[in-house]
Amino acid sequence: MVLKLFIDSADPKEIAAAAATGLVDGVTTNPSLAAKTGLDLIEALTQICALVQGPVSAEVLATDTAGMIAEGRRYAKIAKNIAIKVPLTWDGLKACRSLRSEGLMVNVTLCFSPVQAMMAAKAGATFISPFIGRLDDAGEDGMSLIRDIRAIYDNYGFETQILAASIRNVPHVRESALAGADVATLPPAVFRQLLYHPLTDKGLDAFLADARKAGVKVRE
Ligand code: G3P
Repeated sequence: MVLKLFIDSADPKEIAAAAATGLVDGVTTNPSLAAKTGLDLIEALTQICALVQGPVSAEVLATDTAGMIAEGRRYAKIAKNIAIKVPLTWDGLKACRSLRSEGLMVNVTLCFSPVQAMMAAKAGATFISPFIGRLDDAGEDGMSLIRDIRAIYDNYGFETQILAASIRNVPHVRESALAGADVATLPPAVFRQLLYHPLTDKGLDAFLADARKAGVKVRE
């Protein structure tokens, strides 16, 4: 088991660039991210589902159970790897139960408390999305939410996967891995930064300069 990495974007071009590394396990979108692309939602999701094999979260816009189920079924027609994203409300959890009983993946989003996460797991969620960055912004400790959910899920054997969301920087990724999250969803800029370390760049420059000076070559 390894921390799965999803890309938090609705932009097919950004997702394609990250997916080209072969190290992207899925994608999460939300209505704000979709609005930013200016693309037709279904068209964008269709393109994204073809770019990655893993789950692609598509968020419902309805707020009532019946509406969420109808939109979820529509999304599910796009591709087999669609995960329907529903908000952490009573209507959302009812829709979650129903969509799960149809064999569809469900991501319950906008989670800000351990008890909310427990309820989503009881409703059979495939993924729970705790929002780390937004909790930090509000003066709380986002990472302690991940740790609490991990403990509760392990206590009771819930199989719902913890998808650390609202990640703002590389330390958030490190902390998510240490806390035992199953997935971290990263904005493309944070994904690109995962390998950055100034000593890596400096060390590589020095190796290459030394080889150039000494005329070292790789023989064919
Ligand atoms: O996709 C949900 C989540 O990752 C949103 O992040 O940065 O808008 O709080 P953010």
